[in-house]
Amino acid sequence: GKEKQKYVIGFSQCTSDPWREAVILEMQIEASNYKNVELVVYNALGNNSRQISQIRKLISQNVDALIISPNEAIPITDVAVEAYEKGIPTIIHDRKIKSDKYTVSIGANNYNIGLAIGEYINNILSPGSKILEIWGLEGSSPAIERHEGFIAALNKNNDYKINEVYGKWQYNLALEETKKISSYNDIDLIFAHNDIMAIAARDEIMRRDSLVARRIKFIGIDGVYGDNSGIEAVANGNFEASFQYPTGGALAIQVAIDILNGKLVKKNYILNTTIIDKTNAKTILAQSEQLNNYQVRINRQKEEELNLLSRFRFLRNSTFLILGL
Ligand code: FRU
Repeated sequence: GKEKQKYVIGFSQCTSDPWREAVILEMQIEASNYKNVELVVYNALGNNSRQISQIRKLISQNVDALIISPNEAIPITDVAVEAYEKGIPTIIHDRKIKSDKYTVSIGANNYNIGLAIGEYINNILSPGSKILEIWGLEGSSPAIERHEGFIAALNKNNDYKINEVYGKWQYNLALEETKKISSYNDIDLIFAHNDIMAIAARDEIMRRDSLVARRIKFIGIDGVYGDNSGIEAVANGNFEASFQYPTGGALAIQVAIDILNGKLVKKNYILNTTIIDKTNAKTILAQSEQLNNYQVRINRQKEEELNLLSRFRFLRNSTFLILGL
């Protein structure tokens, strides 16, 4: 029979950290369900100009669809629009660009996440409390939107004192910023725009004064499953709360394949999020563990299937050889 056409999907990933690794893993697993789909991944490691040249490389390789997770909105906009205008189906994943010239966008509503965190804080802090906000990268849309939602929700009558520092989504930079603070005594709560920065702040404060670290409330975002992750931090009481920030990796691949198969897709996919706090952290942890176990088993089965297939092909080829065909 006629071979189905082969498709190459390019993914331009902006940086590397536990959440980003989860995105790639999900994409790879989803893509591996389709024998005619190849996924090509470039990682810009947090550098805008590297991401621009990697996207140009994917464009010149004539990928059939392009998924972009922009590092920062303004610098990546032109090259993303360039791909779109060349007729490549272009999916903007998680962080936004400054244009609506794209085929599909996939991501959660970060303003609403900020709002929910602000409202949560109104319920647990007394008036006049002091908050340290650790920002993600200032030019990336989730940082801006999380901040705006958070500020909008805080009860003005409570007159919270807010200090802002910039961790740019990174563990090491958040650690440096926390080190620079001379005293933690008047900090009541630390809200970091992602879990790894909240973990960094807590690690540093633990190192200096574990009693203070246990008094301060920490809130992060991502809720990635794994060792030293946000879910675990909430489950064991190190964090007050986190937010499960869906990776959208599998969906991005599905949508790319739908587009390539001529199916109708939406312009914007808004992913659902849930707060993780002490009421549900243990349940979410157990469920994530179970899902992870299923995935490990599925992968093992897939590998076995591949082994069987290649052994079968080898046998078939040797038969041809013996018969001299
Ligand atoms: C990972 C990350 C996540 C965050 C998301 C926002 O690179 O920083 O921690 O939720 O990107 O785009």
